[in-house]
Amino acid sequence: MTKAVLGIIGGSGIYDLPGLQNVAEIDVTSPWGTPSSRLKRGRIGSTDIVFLSRHDVGHRLAPSDIDYRANIDCLKRAGVTDLISLSACGSFKEELAPGTFVLVDQFVDRTTRRQSSFFGRGCVAHVSMAHPVAPKLVDRVASAAAAEGIKAVRGGTYVCMEGPQFSTLAESLSYKSAGYDVIGMTNMPEAKLAREAEISYASVCMVTDFDCWHPGHDAVTVTDIIRVLTENAEKAKHLVGRLAADFPAEHEPCPVGSDRALDFAIITAPNA
Ligand code: ADE
Repeated sequence: MTKAVLGIIGGSGIYDLPGLQNVAEIDVTSPWGTPSSRLKRGRIGSTDIVFLSRHDVGHRLAPSDIDYRANIDCLKRAGVTDLISLSACGSFKEELAPGTFVLVDQFVDRTTRRQSSFFGRGCVAHVSMAHPVAPKLVDRVASAAAAEGIKAVRGGTYVCMEGPQFSTLAESLSYKSAGYDVIGMTNMPEAKLAREAEISYASVCMVTDFDCWHPGHDAVTVTDIIRVLTENAEKAKHLVGRLAADFPAEHEPCPVGSDRALDFAIITAPNA
C-alpha cells in the first residue's frame, strides 16, 4: 500500500493552514533550488498533510519568481501523493462570479519564462498532459465543498499568463472568446511538474474578479482581489479541513495514471 500524504499549496491569501495539528517545519532541499517557503508537516484527523505557501508569508514571491521545480520536488520528497493547489483567479464567465470555486480540469499555458520540466539533457521524457487533473481527487474536493456548503463548479479551463501585469482588454476578450473559464498566474508549470513527479494534482481556483472584459465591472485591481480573497481563504480552509478529515489512509490509484505518468514517458535509452 502507498500511504496517502495530502499536499496543499496555498496561493494568494493562504499563507498558513490553521487547522493543522502537531505542526513541524521541515527542511527539505532540492537540487533545483529552494522552495517558496519552509514546508509544514502536520495532521488533520488521521491524514498526514504537507503545506507550502506558494508566494511565502508576506507575499514575497511574484508568480514568475517562484521556483516551481523546487516546490514540487520538495513536496515529492516529503512523501506527498495527492496535491491540492489553492489559487485566486479572474473569471471569463458571468456565472462564475467572485466567490465561486472552480475545480478546473484543463489548462492553457501562456507562460514564457519558467522552468517547466525536470527532464532534458541526458534523460528526456514526454508525459501525457491530456487529462491534467486527477478525477478521483477532484471528486473528493467536490464532496468536501458540498459538505461545507461551498459553491464549487466542476470543470473549466484555466489559462495561465506570465504576469505580473494583468491582461489587456484585447487579451481578456480573446481568452473569453476562446471559451476559457478562468485566468491566473501560477498553475502552470505547477500542474506539469506534478505530473512529471507522479503526484495526483487538483486545482481549486477561487474567483476574485471578472478580469477586465466585463462591461458592468471595472478592470481588476489588487484592492478588488484582496477584498474577495479574505472570504475565499476562509472558505478554502473549511474545504481543506473537510477534505483532510475524509481522506483515505491509502493513496487511491489514479484513473488517468497521474501516479504512473513516467511508465511510458522516458524516451532516452537506459545507457545513453
Ligand atoms: N488572479 C486573480 N485575478 C486574476 C486576473 N484577473 N488575472 C490573472 N491572475 C489573477
